[in-house]
This record gives sequence, structure tokens and C-alpha cells, in this order.
Amino acid sequence: MTAFLKPRDVARIVAAQGIAGTFERLAGYLEADYRRWADFDKTPRVAAHSRDGVIELMPIADATLYSFKYVNGHPANTRAGLPTVMAFGVLAEVATGLPLLLSELTLTTALRTAAMSALAARTLARPGSRRMALIGNGAQSEFQALAFHHLVGIDEIALFDVDRAATARLQRALAGVPGLRLIACDSVERAVQGADIVTTVTADKTRATILRPGHIAPGMHLNAVGGDCPGKTELDAAILEHASVFVEYEPQSRIEGEIQQMPADFAVTEFWRVLTRQAPGRRRDDEVTVFDSVGFALEDFSALRWLRDSARELGLGEPLALVPEQQDPKDLFGVLGLDLGAAANRAA
Ligand SMILES: NC(=O)c1ccc[n+]([C@@H]2O[C@H](COP(=O)([O-])OP(=O)(O)OC[C@H]3O[C@@H](n4cnc5c(N)ncnc54)[C@H](O)[C@@H]3O)[C@@H](O)[C@H]2O)c1
Repeated sequence: MTAFLKPRDVARIVAAQGIAGTFERLAGYLEADYRRWADFDKTPRVAAHSRDGVIELMPIADATLYSFKYVNGHPANTRAGLPTVMAFGVLAEVATGLPLLLSELTLTTALRTAAMSALAARTLARPGSRRMALIGNGAQSEFQALAFHHLVGIDEIALFDVDRAATARLQRALAGVPGLRLIACDSVERAVQGADIVTTVTADKTRATILRPGHIAPGMHLNAVGGDCPGKTELDAAILEHASVFVEYEPQSRIEGEIQQMPADFAVTEFWRVLTRQAPGRRRDDEVTVFDSVGFALEDFSALRWLRDSARELGLGEPLALVPEQQDPKDLFGVLGLDLGAAANRAA
């Protein structure tokens, strides 16, 4: 049977592993999979765009496991009481096609996105980075803050959101984290002052310029998370021109990332090449590095593997009769339990 994991199960896994342990383990799964990049059958995600948002399918497979994620992005949803991002996904056996796991991926997307951002920053930001600006204080923001605190060593975070209530909520949520200082700011300019790393995780269905060249100091690492769709960006193109830009999967990032603003031959480096030392990461202390995050299917594949293994360890997951149970695999019609003779008699 397929195992089913609910948001409550994911919360139990995180409680058992601790938030720092969760990010550490997830980053381990992500790194292990990015290091074996050539093993994967990759494709840019399939997107259905509408006036208010996007719904995407994100498939990927290696020789033994296949996964897909369903995810949406609707920036105006919060006004209607719904999250901007909602997701679920499946992990299946390549040899038979049997779905092994059906899981919530809304919480998991936030966890894996933050773990991926922190993994990229650990590789690309200046060693010893301590201060981060966090622009956009919505649903993803605690995850980003905590992943950077625990995995990168960030101990001071300057917060800015156009919605002051969002910043206040984030401050309350993180108030008890030992060793983490939070500073609420009233502008992007204030927030980025003295920052080693700037994370942008805003939601707007537009070509926003959250960061302009004047916001950027030599040596900064930019973790640009919110620009992840055609026509939805966060960085002024002039920032990219003077930075080293790292992407997850180039064919998808050309369509969806900050680099959609750049010519097709604008040089970028896929992150797996840095991890496997086939390409340099940061070369100088004063270099500006950009992780142009859009979210790639491989990260959900890694996250689903983490969920499957963690659920097994903790005995979590409800058996789900997703596929019909058949005595004879060729007798599918029998599962309907119809008595065709009786139906024919009634008709007569
Ligand atoms: N790259 C990835 O892998 C990935 C994964 C998940 C989400 N995302 C993206 O991250 C973004 C944030 O997601 P969320 O779930 O936190 O959304 P959310 O709606 O909960 O929060 C977004 C916040 O951004 C703020 N904001 C909007 N415009 C702003 C501006 N100009 N300046 C400052 N703040 C601004 C909003 O007020 C809101 O508080 C979305 O665009 C989403 O698509 C990317």
C-alpha cells in the first residue's frame, strides 16, 4: 500500500529531529542528490499560468525512484485566507510504477527551500557571514531565518516587509531563539546595511525590483527566492550584470529565475558543479554572489526521500488504498463489484 503523510506527521518528524537537526538532515539529502546530478532524468517544471497565479507539476527520476510535486503560487491568496504556496507530492518505484508515498509538501517545501538556500549560502557566501537581511516576512520566512541561523551561523537578522504585521508576526515567532538577534526595519535600505547575506522571499506577481544596485555592497551573497515564475522577479537586472550567478537547473532558471531578465548567453553556473568542484564558487571576498533560487524538482525528490526514511524510523504514515486491491491483476473491472447480469435483467 501507499503510505500517506499528513502535515501533522511532518510536524512530528520535525519535532523528533529538532528544527536544527531537520535542516541538517535535509541539507544532507539535498547535497547527496545534487552531487549525483548525472543520475537524474531532469526536465523544467510544467506550469499552468492564470491571471492570479500558477499551478506547477515538478517531475524527476533516477534509476530507482520517481517523484513529482504539485505546487501553486498565488500571491493574493493570503487576502482570501489561503496560503500563497500549497503542495503535495508522490514518491514512486521506477521498476513497477507503484506509488510508495503520498505526502503533504506545503510544510516540506518551506523546509527544503530553506535548507537549499542555506546549503547554497554555506557554499557561496563569505565564510564568517553573521548578519542577514530578510526581505519578505511571510510563510517561508521563519524557515529561512532558522536554516540560516543553524546551518550558516547567522546570528543577526534585519527584517523588512511592506506589511508591518508580517514582520511583527515573524519577530514574535522567533523571539525565543537563543543567540538570534532580530531587528525590524522600515525600509530595504535599512535592512541591507551591513548585511553579509540578503534573502529576498517576497510574493508579488510582477517584475519587482526589491533590490537595486545601490543596496548591494561588495562581497554580499544574495539568496533570491521569491522570483520564480515568468514575469515575477525581485532583483534589478544591473545587479546580475555585476555578480556571479548560480542556478539550480539552467533550462528552468532561464524561464523562471532572475536571469529571465538577461540575454540567453548570460553566464551562470549550475550549483551541482560547484558542489562537485567542477566549477569555482566564490573567487574573491569582494565578489557579489547570487543564488537565483526557483525551486527544482530534485529538491522535492530529496525531501520525499527524507520523509520516507524519517517516517519509517518513527513508525509514521497511514496506509492508503490509493491503487485498487486486485486478486487477479488483469481483473480490474471486478473491483467495481458490479453484477452485470442483474443490471441487464433490470433493464429488460
Ligand atoms: N524558490 C523556491 O524554491 C520557492 C519556494 C517556496 C516559495 N517561493 C516563493 O517565495 C515567495 C514567498 O512565499 P511565501 O509563502 O512566504 O509567501 P507569503 O505570501 O506568505 O509572504 C510573502 C511576503 O512578501 C511580502 N512582500 C510582497 N511584496 C513585497 C515588497 N515589495 N517588499 C517587501 N515585502 C514584500 C508580503 O507582504 C508577504 O508578507 C513567493 O513568491 C513564492 O512563490 C519560492
